[in-house]
Amino acid sequence: MAGRPGKRTMKAKITLLPGDGIGPEIVDATRQVLETIASKAGHTFTFSTHLIGGVGIDETGVPLPDDTIVACRSADAVLLGAVGGPKWDDPNAKVRPEQGLLGMRKALKLFANVRPVKLFRGLEAASPLRAERLRGVDLVFIRELTGGIYFGQPKGKETKNGLRTGFDTMVYDESEIRRIVELAFEVARERGGHVTSVDKANVLATMQVWREIATEVGKENSDIKLDHQLVDSAAMRLVTEPSSFDVIVSGNMFGDILSDEGAVLTGSLGLLPSASLGEGTLGVYEPIHGSAPDIAGKGIANPLGTILSAAMLLRHSLNLDEDAKLIENAVQKVLDSGLRTADLSGGQRSLGTTEMTDAVVAAIEGA
Ligand code: IPM
Ligand code: MG
Repeated sequence: MAGRPGKRTMKAKITLLPGDGIGPEIVDATRQVLETIASKAGHTFTFSTHLIGGVGIDETGVPLPDDTIVACRSADAVLLGAVGGPKWDDPNAKVRPEQGLLGMRKALKLFANVRPVKLFRGLEAASPLRAERLRGVDLVFIRELTGGIYFGQPKGKETKNGLRTGFDTMVYDESEIRRIVELAFEVARERGGHVTSVDKANVLATMQVWREIATEVGKENSDIKLDHQLVDSAAMRLVTEPSSFDVIVSGNMFGDILSDEGAVLTGSLGLLPSASLGEGTLGVYEPIHGSAPDIAGKGIANPLGTILSAAMLLRHSLNLDEDAKLIENAVQKVLDSGLRTADLSGGQRSLGTTEMTDAVVAAIEGA
């Protein structure tokens, strides 16, 4: 079907950053899905591919070449694969792939990382949790992404009194806290109306300011339920009572840790998307899993987390909610029909990246 009469069509520029490991395979797969959507809905998507991470280091000496940033700034949205791998893992290396990712977040002012965690029908058995604990799990992490201990100064390594010493600084000002907490409230208003703000206010001064600001924002949004939870107890509750959460908002490092814990609850790391967003509509979309160097180039990587990230891209950066749903429904349909990549097949027959992508494409075309 070429174009749906009466529907809004659009032109969009999408920058692809395949990165390292399985990144190129899953980004290529997702590009095919986006092209399928474009031809079905009558959109024109143009793609340009740029370097980030280890391949950036190999080809240009830096993990975030200038033209990559230029290409991201001039795009409507960015789709990223993954960065990193053992080749670039020397802790004393001057440049690391991860610096490319952090540099991009900072340069594009992507202060919010959004990671929805939900269970996919039919995959309950893949979770490390018992089925009764999983019932009703549907939560989203809103993680602050351009501040906190990841970026605070001073940070460094030195020899002090003859001892090798490392140091980092955790710092947040009220404007950084306010904008991420406000976003969490906006998101909660569209969902379950409940925000859990995670901190470590019993120990850290930064986190006492965090709690103070979160409380203020809570008072301004009294239609939404707010509770505060210390990060250690939040980590525990995520495995004991995961369905008690709706929106979890936290600083950069706590969000990094908790969102991996949250993701694994579903047993389907390969299925979970994420969005990194700023003030405008530009966003960077990527699967939450890493570059999986052990399976890179084998054609067996699960493309669905990246494909679902493209659905987030359509919804948030291009305002194409219907097309986002087309992708999400196609993925659920493919899973419902029992198709699995190796990460989810539990040793049973599995599909490769290309076959899985073809199945999603066919489901979209047939919708
Ligand atoms: C993530 C990753 C990154 C982070 C790494 C690769 C720098 O773990 O996006 O969660 O720590 O933010
Ligand atoms: Mg992480």
